[in-house]
Amino acid sequence: MSVRTLMRVITALAAVHASLASSAGTTAPAAAVHYSQHCGACHGTDRLGGMGPALLPESLERLRPAELADVLRHGRTATQMPGFAAQLDEAALDGLAVWLRTAPAIAPHWDAADIRASHVVYHAPGALPAKPVFTADPTNLFLVVEAGSHHISVLDGDRLERIHRFRTRFALHGGPKFSQDGRYVYMASRDGWVSKYDLWNLTYAAEIRAALNTRNVAVSDDGKWVLAGNTLPGTLALLRADDLSLVRVYDVRGRDGKPSRVSAVYDAAPRHSFIAALKDVPEVWELPYGDAGVPMQPRVIVLDDVLDDFYFDQGYRHILGASRDGRGQVIDMARGRQVTELEVSGMPHLGSGITWVRDGREVMASPNLKQGRISVIDMEDWHTVGTVQTNGPGFFLRSHEDTPYVWTDAMMSPRRDTLQVIDKQSLQVVGSVTPSPGRTAAHVEFTRDGRYALVSLMERDGAIVVYDAQTLREVKRIPMDKPIGKYNVFNKTTRSSGTSH
Ligand code: HEC
Repeated sequence: MSVRTLMRVITALAAVHASLASSAGTTAPAAAVHYSQHCGACHGTDRLGGMGPALLPESLERLRPAELADVLRHGRTATQMPGFAAQLDEAALDGLAVWLRTAPAIAPHWDAADIRASHVVYHAPGALPAKPVFTADPTNLFLVVEAGSHHISVLDGDRLERIHRFRTRFALHGGPKFSQDGRYVYMASRDGWVSKYDLWNLTYAAEIRAALNTRNVAVSDDGKWVLAGNTLPGTLALLRADDLSLVRVYDVRGRDGKPSRVSAVYDAAPRHSFIAALKDVPEVWELPYGDAGVPMQPRVIVLDDVLDDFYFDQGYRHILGASRDGRGQVIDMARGRQVTELEVSGMPHLGSGITWVRDGREVMASPNLKQGRISVIDMEDWHTVGTVQTNGPGFFLRSHEDTPYVWTDAMMSPRRDTLQVIDKQSLQVVGSVTPSPGRTAAHVEFTRDGRYALVSLMERDGAIVVYDAQTLREVKRIPMDKPIGKYNVFNKTTRSSGTSH
């Protein structure tokens, strides 16, 4: 046992003792004991993860109470997670559920030394041939994230066939990001693992655990840097893109010293910088790409309000943001301050916003999480040019330079099985598709040429359903295990305005 592992065990034991001491008379002591007996071997004595995922309150944020209750009792089929209904009684299982949602008495710790100790290089930079091992066009590949069993399928975008499928870390967070040449893809997992995958050689190149809980990663346009935005601890971890080695950790704190989680990081290629949105303090940080060995110093933009959701214009000159109380703001990046308010109603999901040209002017639209209405905004003077009535609240909006339509879902409504197709000029709904009645369909991505639209049937026995983007006729279906998102190498590396970044 290494000194580091020993330290972890001691910390974990101290945490169990502290929770035993602090909550005598409640169910916590029993839960801590049950955990170390039945769960620690797979999920880590310290709950930071092992063969199974981390089980901290931050890790379980997206798991509904009923889902947690169910997984503790019945496990997860086709995974190593067993059910405990036969071994633990109802009170013990409920106690465990409460305990898992409670932060450990001693805050989990993950610093630069932990990050460095987790680093693995499978293939050193330059070790593998710079040539695809397949015949498909490498710029028209699609990656399909299959959340059901934590896999990615690689599709040939010309023949619309799967050419490969590989396992990912548990629960990818944020979209995978490509290097400019499309050879490498960088992924972040919920539990903070950052992985670099060589798409030409169909193998992992390197991995590192940047945090215990991560929102997403961004990759610099010059191909040198990867930035991970983390919620536990609240840090930014800057990695070298070639082998994912750690360059530096930024402790994220507001001006007054208040620590903050990171809500997301973005690559602002036209500005040669990264942008980090913060969750707990009203600030946005900009980190200019540095030269090798020169750490980037953040430039802090102070806001009136914490922003929950963001959209950047194509040139990254402005941020469109929405605050928790539903106020919309336009922030000028150069001036570093708010320039105007945005008319918003419902809850626009700016993060999924897209732009296109209408009557010679650039317009922007985003789905709305609270109402079946999509507002279309003029990107020059920020006024609302039109409103489209849809089937219901939706999550994604997609288009492509070479298609006349925008596709939207109504995922947050009873009509979650249907996507509607909106004409980019008339702003009228001109058609719809229902891949499988009663089952959730959302998230569209186009082939490189915009000819076909790929739709996710987001179920365990789901599929990618391919439509002709002109006629809206179904072309084919490729079975998938809960395909949540898909990413076309060309559309992503050329920053198509029809997709969010
Ligand atoms: C033999 C190893 C193993 C044991 C023992 C085990 N787990 Fe798991 N657990 C896993 C794996 C692997 C997963 C991931 C399953 C998947 O891919 O969805 C998991 C998933 C979970 C999840 C779902 C996490 C999420 O974010 O979806 C919870 C909650 C959980 N385990 C709790 C427990 C508890 C509590 C115990 C002890 C009572 C326990 N597990 C024992 C391996 C194990």
